Amino acid sequence: MELRSGAVRLRPLRRRDQDAWQRLRRRNARWLLRWEATSPDGTVPRATFTGYVRQLNRAAREDTGYAFVVEYRGELVGQVSVAGVNRGSLQSASIGYWISEHVAGRGIIPTAVAMVVDYCFTDLGLHRVEINIRPENAASLRVVEKLGFRDEGLRRAYLHIQGQWADHRSFALTVEEAAPSLLERWLASRGSAPLT
Ligand SMILES: CC(C)(COP(=O)(O)OP(=O)(O)OC[C@H]1O[C@@H](n2cnc3c(N)ncnc32)[C@H](O)[C@@H]1OP(=O)(O)O)[C@@H](O)C(=O)NCCC(=O)NCCS
Repeated sequence: MELRSGAVRLRPLRRRDQDAWQRLRRRNARWLLRWEATSPDGTVPRATFTGYVRQLNRAAREDTGYAFVVEYRGELVGQVSVAGVNRGSLQSASIGYWISEHVAGRGIIPTAVAMVVDYCFTDLGLHRVEINIRPENAASLRVVEKLGFRDEGLRRAYLHIQGQWADHRSFALTVEEAAPSLLERWLASRGSAPLT
């Protein structure tokens, strides 16, 4: 599975990404720390890189989650993940993302999320996707605002972040709201030019 728009390409994480991935994560450790989920029981997961790739592949095989790395101009710069795929009568999932600080502010994540939302509706057959954001995360709130996600309100103590249960604002789109293509709509809003 590979998605592309201009200079933004999404694909699964591979074992040969290990060095680039670990460099990217080290470089952005401080930038990401504030927003990353933690374990409520205080344990720090000790997965190896190979174990992490295996875990992502298993999730895709079992249809519980789909993770894409973000490449910009051929460089690994971030990640967009679809988690908690819920089938049955719900057909919903939540989307999470981050990008390296050195390429933040260029519209890469809105482009990537728009592609992933289209993938969720067209390829995965989901009906609804949601994005949960801490109220103080202004940059992330801009992402959902620019993409036209609907505000569904506040979820109290929703997710464990940096050692405590943190409130989140929840935003969603249904397939009807995003049709025919969120990527097309996003590109049209910026003059139809893909990112170069
Ligand atoms: C939130 C995040 C993914 C946005 O990705 P992005 O590709 O930079 O998105 P955009 O280019 O649309 O920028 C979004 C906003 O970030 C802010 N921004 C712009 N340049 C920035 C920079 N160099 N550094 C920090 N924030 C910046 C602006 O407010 C921008 O909104 P604007 O377009 O109205 O000016 C990114 O800031 C990030 O990875 N943050 C840390 C992890 C995180 O918060 N993940 C989301 C958890 S819900």
